[in-house]
Amino acid sequence: MAAKSIAVLDEHELKDGQMKQVDFDKGKVLVARLGDKIHATSAFCTHYGAPLAKGVLTADARIVCPWHGACFNLCNGDIEDAPAPSPIHSFKAYIADGKIHVSANPDFTLKENLARPPKLSTAGFDAVGKGTVIIGGGSGAFQAVESLREHGYKYPITVVSKEPHAPIDRTKLSKALITDASKLEWKTPADLKIKYGVNLRAGVTVTSVELQDRRVILDNGKDNIVYDKLVIAPGGTPRKLPIPGADLENVYTFRGVSDAQKIDGVALEGKKAVFIGSSFISMELVTVLSKRKLASIDVIGMEEYPFEVVLGKQVGAGLKKFHESQGVKFHMQTQVEKIVPREDNPSLAESVVVNGEALPADFVVMGVGVAPATEFLKGSGIELEKGGGIEVDECLRVTKLPANVEGVFAIGDVAIYPQAGELVRIEHWNVAGNHGRAVGKTIAGQPQPFVKTPVFWSAQGQQLRYCGYAAGHDDVIIKGDPGEMKFVAYYVKQGKVVAVASMQNDPVVSAASELLRLGLMPSPNEIKAGKDLLAVDVSSVSSLPKIA
Ligand SMILES: Cc1cc2nc3c(=O)[nH]c(=O)nc-3n(C[C@H](O)[C@H](O)[C@H](O)COP(=O)(O)OP(=O)(O)OC[C@H]3O[C@@H](n4cnc5c(N)ncnc54)[C@H](O)[C@@H]3O)c2cc1C
Ligand code: FES
Repeated sequence: MAAKSIAVLDEHELKDGQMKQVDFDKGKVLVARLGDKIHATSAFCTHYGAPLAKGVLTADARIVCPWHGACFNLCNGDIEDAPAPSPIHSFKAYIADGKIHVSANPDFTLKENLARPPKLSTAGFDAVGKGTVIIGGGSGAFQAVESLREHGYKYPITVVSKEPHAPIDRTKLSKALITDASKLEWKTPADLKIKYGVNLRAGVTVTSVELQDRRVILDNGKDNIVYDKLVIAPGGTPRKLPIPGADLENVYTFRGVSDAQKIDGVALEGKKAVFIGSSFISMELVTVLSKRKLASIDVIGMEEYPFEVVLGKQVGAGLKKFHESQGVKFHMQTQVEKIVPREDNPSLAESVVVNGEALPADFVVMGVGVAPATEFLKGSGIELEKGGGIEVDECLRVTKLPANVEGVFAIGDVAIYPQAGELVRIEHWNVAGNHGRAVGKTIAGQPQPFVKTPVFWSAQGQQLRYCGYAAGHDDVIIKGDPGEMKFVAYYVKQGKVVAVASMQNDPVVSAASELLRLGLMPSPNEIKAGKDLLAVDVSSVSSLPKIA
């Protein structure tokens, strides 16, 4: 369809630093003003479709989605931050006769067409040569591919993934127990091939790496691939507690589609479930399963409250109250003694013993954390840290390599990287995705240090949002009531707010992530005195000098 020009607002209806969603033909457009300039883009986020007008605009032209941290460039619609899987459209906008006009192809303003197709074509790719090999087909790999092509990398890209499908939205697995990989794939294998020139080797395992020859070995030597650049992105392997019964057939861990299929098949009305571990993945699954009329759901945790290590006691207590209202029974400050097999079928668990009490179980889920999936690198010459992580520098280059070896990067759940002056390993979807984006740009020839605020989210009856890094926080300021699932929690470390969590207070966490990025986060005393993060001006051009 040809472009149309439509007057969408009076000029005075859009002030510096404001953005608004407006109708455009049968679709919607986001219009925003920074100083004298008017901009127009798609109105919705390409991740899960949030209305961007409800997010946060900054004077350096970032539109931050109100929900899960995706960020787009206001001037051209490019992705600035994961988890956005695709850029948005940008449209021509101008002022004439006192009105703001937008000129756009109406088709591109429809919600179903909100994503901008990649500005790539197979014609531009070089099919020969060594190129880049990415080990793993998860969040980090997916965004690395997008970023490599976006930044003009034209050499071959091979993604090797143990999983039998293209990269999926892993975060949905525990929130909706989806068992069909095709409903979770961000891009089909055909799209990856045709639009991104990616050779996806799905269902294939990298079993070792030969650094001197720049070669990865597949399936114990059945095949191998040479590379120019190597990106190590194998994510995590769920841990199992070393207790009797841990390997029984109906004791599950949770990482991929096959795990969702197993649990979906057993979590039926009238069944009894025991969860070992009371953190995010366990409790997301508990949230889903508590709608399935199970006979009982027992949760065993080591701390006083679920989520306590990350979110603190008050938020943990509030979320515990919610889960109890759904019929979930907690056994906190306790450790599992053993899992007891059935007498009639000793390959299956019958109960889980805590404090001498046997909790009956038709199935058991162990949500007790993950270890970096780096076993296959032992003996490769890459020095693994205690626990299996891989240390990288600010550009995510592996630091501990044999002499003369270069071009090796590690991203996502396996990477121990510099964040806020510490070396950390963070297991968040967006951190892995933003690592992938940074490394893609670096490999494409524009070295990009990783400088993002970590963001994650969870579904616990209400949507939980979180940004920052608050390991070892020494105070928490709560506004609102976690018991009512409506609050903002500010995590304080050494006199500074270093992280913010919220429920039912969008877009406070989006604003907080920008304030942390810009170094404009109010002090704990200002927060205690009632300062509202949404009242801090980061969007009008007059706030620019502070940003610079
Ligand atoms: C169920 C679930 C829900 C989650 N929900 C959230 C959430 O809501 N928000 C959030 O921020 N984070 C969430 N996370 C965490 C988030 O998914 C991870 O931090 C993120 O996926 C890490 O990305 P990655 O690229 O490092 O690894 P992954 O996404 O795990 O991808 C690793 C890939 O490497 C493959 N692989 C491993 N070893 C090999 C090998 N030797 N050879 C070939 N392939 C290999 C794996 O099969 C996989 O395809 C969740 C995690 C899980 C498991
Ligand atoms: S909907 Fe925008 S980040 Fe998820």
